[in-house]
Amino acid sequence: PGRLVLGIESSCDESAAAVVADGRRVLSSVIASQIKDHAPFGGVVPELASRRHLENLAPTVMAALSEAGVTLDDITGVAVTQGPGLIGALLIGLNLAKALAWSRELPLVGVSHLEGHLAALSLAQEPPPYPFMALLVSGGHTSIFLVRAPGEQQELGSTVDDAAGEAFDKVAKLYGLGYPGGIIIDRMAAAGDPSVIQLPRPRMHDGTLDFSFSGLKSAVVRFREANQGEDYRMEDLCAGFQEAVVEVLVKKTLAAAQERGVGHLALAGGVAANQRLRAAMAEAAAREGLGVTLPPLALCTDNAAMIAAAGCHHLRAGRRMPLEADAISRLPK
Ligand code: KG4
Ligand code: ZN
Repeated sequence: PGRLVLGIESSCDESAAAVVADGRRVLSSVIASQIKDHAPFGGVVPELASRRHLENLAPTVMAALSEAGVTLDDITGVAVTQGPGLIGALLIGLNLAKALAWSRELPLVGVSHLEGHLAALSLAQEPPPYPFMALLVSGGHTSIFLVRAPGEQQELGSTVDDAAGEAFDKVAKLYGLGYPGGIIIDRMAAAGDPSVIQLPRPRMHDGTLDFSFSGLKSAVVRFREANQGEDYRMEDLCAGFQEAVVEVLVKKTLAAAQERGVGHLALAGGVAANQRLRAAMAEAAAREGLGVTLPPLALCTDNAAMIAAAGCHHLRAGRRMPLEADAISRLPK
């Protein structure tokens, strides 16, 4: 088992399926995005996400098989996101994976979405050497993981409130910039000056590896109210906000690597697509003589190839998910 794994991901707003060979080669990775469905609401509507997964996920699996040039008969194992995520959305993927595995008597394994994001790094052209320090930044999570081996990760710190991506999305929503906000702020910030509008760097010097971003969002709310009718450039606000987030993320990831004597940094999760974060992380790594892996954008945001990659490792280790297994909305730490 584990040679040709079908991965299925439906934890949030992307219906995704992929076929990965030997946990390493992506034969296909298909994503049916629901961004357009949720955009009018300025965020993901859980009930709507479930319904779209129900419509889109099975055809997405068929497309992944056909793009890989294989059929279900060729698949040797099925991996599916078991959590964390929206419970209704997870259940759609879990049940489809169960049905496929049961009908073909294939080994089935449940994967943590977070582990999936970390496993995406092993699909990069040049995967990071073990051990490495990974900053996992997405719409739902902001954590630093010490990754010692495939599937062997220890969370050293995480956000105590909002995730970094959530902060991007909320600031964009506050100013009516559009959804999802991360990529929009990224683009606007590129044309702005980060030194014009100074915002706080929460928990920057608290000596822990934890983060907090809800205060930064509140600072933007207060800035907006205090400057009603004032003339300032949205590009500068975006750049100032982004710089505050990036500075804290980079400083703590670097501190984690130095504390543990780890020589390599890596970025994972949707916010890892951020151009400023990538540049700042590369800069910091070069300055401190550390290696760094910045995966291609398609491996940063949600996809099913990362679930197949993580699943392949567990299938090889003989782990199985029973057919009565439930989805887990919040994974225990
Ligand atoms: O990993 P992901 O696709 O889904 C989750 O597991 O959450 O991450 C989505 C998050 C959203 O908050 C989105 O705004 C953010 O990643 N994001 C970005 C960028 N691209 C996506 N944030 C900052 N800059 C970007 N370029
Ligand atoms: Zn994700």
